[in-house]
Order: sequence, then C-alpha cells, then structure tokens
Amino acid sequence: MSDTNATLKLDGKDTSLPVLSGSVGPDVVDIRKLYADTGAFTYDPGFTSTASCRSAITYIDGEEGVLLHRGYPIDQLAEQSSFTEVAYLLLHGELPTRDELDSFTYTISRHTMVHEQLATFFRGFRRDAHPMAIMCGVVGALSAFYHDSTDITDPKQRMIASHRLIAKMPTIAAMAYKYSIGQPFLYPDNTLSYTGNFLRMTFGVPAEHYEVNPILERAMDRIFILHADHEQNASTSTVRLAGSSGANPFACIAAGIACLWGPAHGGANEAALNMLREIGRPEHIPEYIARAKDKDDPFRLMGFGHRVYKNYDPRAKVMQQTAEEVLKELNISDPVLDTARELEQIALKDDYFIEKKLYPNVDFYSGVILNAIGFPSDMFTVLFALARTVGWVAQWNEMISDPEQKIGRPRQLYVGDTERQYVPVGSR
Ligand code: SDX
Repeated sequence: MSDTNATLKLDGKDTSLPVLSGSVGPDVVDIRKLYADTGAFTYDPGFTSTASCRSAITYIDGEEGVLLHRGYPIDQLAEQSSFTEVAYLLLHGELPTRDELDSFTYTISRHTMVHEQLATFFRGFRRDAHPMAIMCGVVGALSAFYHDSTDITDPKQRMIASHRLIAKMPTIAAMAYKYSIGQPFLYPDNTLSYTGNFLRMTFGVPAEHYEVNPILERAMDRIFILHADHEQNASTSTVRLAGSSGANPFACIAAGIACLWGPAHGGANEAALNMLREIGRPEHIPEYIARAKDKDDPFRLMGFGHRVYKNYDPRAKVMQQTAEEVLKELNISDPVLDTARELEQIALKDDYFIEKKLYPNVDFYSGVILNAIGFPSDMFTVLFALARTVGWVAQWNEMISDPEQKIGRPRQLYVGDTERQYVPVGSR
C-alpha cells in the first residue's frame, strides 16, 4: 500500500513515485514505472539499496542485530524449537500444532531415500572432488529423477518437490561425505530424528551399530536452525531469479548451492576455520588484523562483516555459546576457539572494525563446532546448504505464489563502444 509519494526531479521534470510501507523496516520507493516515465534506470551494483520482492518469511534489522523468522526471534527458535519445526514455520507461516508437526515429520521422513540410480551417479566423480561440487551436480540431477514434481504451476507438485528437497538434502550431503572418504553409503533410518538420521548416515558404518550422541544431535539441529533462512541473501536471490523463469525447483536449488559456495557467502565458514588455523597462536593475530586493514592486501577476516548486520550477527552469539557448550560437554579444548575469541576481542576494539561496523557473522564460530563434531572443513558449506534448503524452498514457493513476480531481468549502465562499422581482417 502507498500513503505517501517521493518526487524525483530529472531533466527539469518532476516524477512522483509511490512510497510503500511494510509491517516493519524501511519503506520502499516503488520505481516500477520509473523507466517508462523518465527514460532512466536506477543504478545499484550489489543491490545495496534495492528491495527485490515483498516477503513475509524473514525480517532482519541490521542496525539492531535482530533476526525474525515469521516474527519469532532466532535466539528463541534456536533455544526452544527444532529444525523440522522451523522448516514447517518457514514453509507455512505458523508454528505447527502437535498433530501438524507429527504429520509434517512423517511426510519428510517418507522422502529421505534417493533413487538407487543416484548412488550410481556419484561414481562419476573423483573421490577427491570437493563435496560442494558433488552437491551442485547431484541436486541439479534430481530433476532427471523426479519428473512427477517439476510442474511449478501445480501447487501439489510444488509441495512434493519441497518435501523431497528438504528430506533428501541430508541423505545427499552424507553420501557426498561418504564418497569422499571411500566408505559405503548408509540408507536413512526413519526411526531417528531428522538430524540424528543425518549424523548416522554421515558417521555410521554398516559394520557397527551407531548410537546418536544427544549432545551432538542438539548442537547440529541448532546449527541447522541458525542457517535456515536469511532474507534476500545472494543464494536466495539466485534461487528466486532462477525460479522466476519457471525453472524446476531442483534446478533452482542447485543454482542456490552454486552461489552459496563462494567464500564471500556460504564458503566463509570453511575459509574462516582455515584462516584461524593459519593464524595459529594469538600472538600472530596483529599481523592478520593489519593485513585485513591493508587496502592493497586482498585478505579479509573471514567470518567478519556483513552486508546487512552493522551490529553483532545474532546467530554468531548463539553459535559461540553452542561452541563453548559442545567443547565443554565433549571435554575438548580446541586452541582454535581461543584464537577466535582473542581475534574477536582485538578486532572489536580496533578503530577500522568499529568505524566500518564489522562484527563476527554466522560463519565465524561455526567451524569450531563442526570440527569438534567430526566434519572436515570442506563439508562446512555443504551443511550450510543442507540447512538453507529450507529457506530457499520457502522463498521459492513465496515467489511462485506472488502475483507481482515476473521474470527477473535487470538492465545496465552501458559503458562500451557506440555503434561502429566492421573492418575486414585484411584491413586491420
Ligand atoms: C554470509 O547476505 C547474507 O545474509 C549472507 C549470510 C546468510 O545467512 O545468507 O549471512 C551468510 O554470507 C555471511 C558473510 C560471510 N562472508 C564472510 O565472512 C567473508 C568476509 N566478509 C566480507 O567479504 C564482507 O564483509 C561481506 C561480503 C560479508 C559483505 O561485504 P559488503 O557488504 O559488500 O561490504 P564491503 O565489501 O563493501 O565492505 C565494506 C568495507 C570495505 O572497506 P572500504 O572499501 O569501505 O574501505 O568493509 C571492509 C571492506 O574492505 N570489510 C572488511 C571485511 N568485510 C568488509 N575488511 C576486512 N575484513 C572483512 N571481513
């Protein structure tokens, strides 16, 4: 709805643009008619000031460090909810009743297996392939196996595809890990929780009974909740853009996985742990802080900074608490955690980080916990993708159902050559 207008003065002409307000957060200037009315585009590389859609799923207040999923604060969900329940909340908009949660849990559990031919599909990869490369390929291939849920105009097929993606990501993630270490795949065990099932498929072997450790199960489930959704981040925007052309949901999620892999985005958790290990002892921290501040050095503190948060990422707080709990309960002392805490303390007192409002983000502490649970660092972004699939699927469904959505097709500021005539090679 619009109850005020903005006026743009351009080439001596005033153009009135509606200003729209949401339920909370910044207003938006509706520029949909700007080009038709003025012949000009807006210019916003990286979309720092651009709202791409209406959404009711996640709200972030970057100045205050607030993250709400369907209105519920992330720290309450992380503390009191479960990943399966958060998946239901993101998809359907409300916390489920006990019966709704039981029915949703049953439905998801009935989609945990993958087509047996998909196991053969893995055989084409080298054993040392990065698990994210495998995830991109295998998830994209799902559309070659599940043709009966690729018609995006059919709400029933959209929901089946959504359930399949949420249910099969843990199975595929575990298969990617098993394949990389040369161990056999384990089938899902639907007597276990969503997260317990994933831990067993990842760390269990056919030769022995695997007992799910409740401490690790709770920590992993909380980590999944913290990664479930995050408004219109790069990978979610990729899923929406792919979906806007009518591409099938499996292809859209594969596109999101590819985007998430970048070290500036979901790949930062792997990069952050590798950086903390490279720093090694706290006395090396000043050298890395200096490099992070050096304009001529491409090095950045991985796990620090955020496009939206100009305050502490609320997920990082929960992640740090969880890291402390897990290491204490497992009786593990990891010097990397000490280095991370020391690095955070030094950076947060440094004028450069204060002035640029750079704080730890969700990726800064996650590697410490994932390493303690037993994951190699090249699996960290796979775990991020597993959890974010719930958010991607919820956002994709919201986009498909949005009457205002159409194929995404940005324009540009053209700075290339103006028209010129072809010159045959003999005359050049
Ligand atoms: C995720 O969008 C999301 O919601 C993402 C995410 C999600 O849940 O989906 O939250 C997950 O991707 C978290 C971010 C993970 N990435 C990293 O930790 C990589 C390190 N961080 C940076 O690359 C950076 O902070 C970004 C990419 C996260 C944000 O970059 P922006 O918003 O484009 O900001 P910028 O690069 O313009 O930085 C502003 C200034 C720059 O200095 P100036 O050019 O103004 O002098 O801050 C500096 C940057 O050089 N800066 C850093 C820094 N991050 C920004 N300097 C040192 N170390 C850093 N980490």
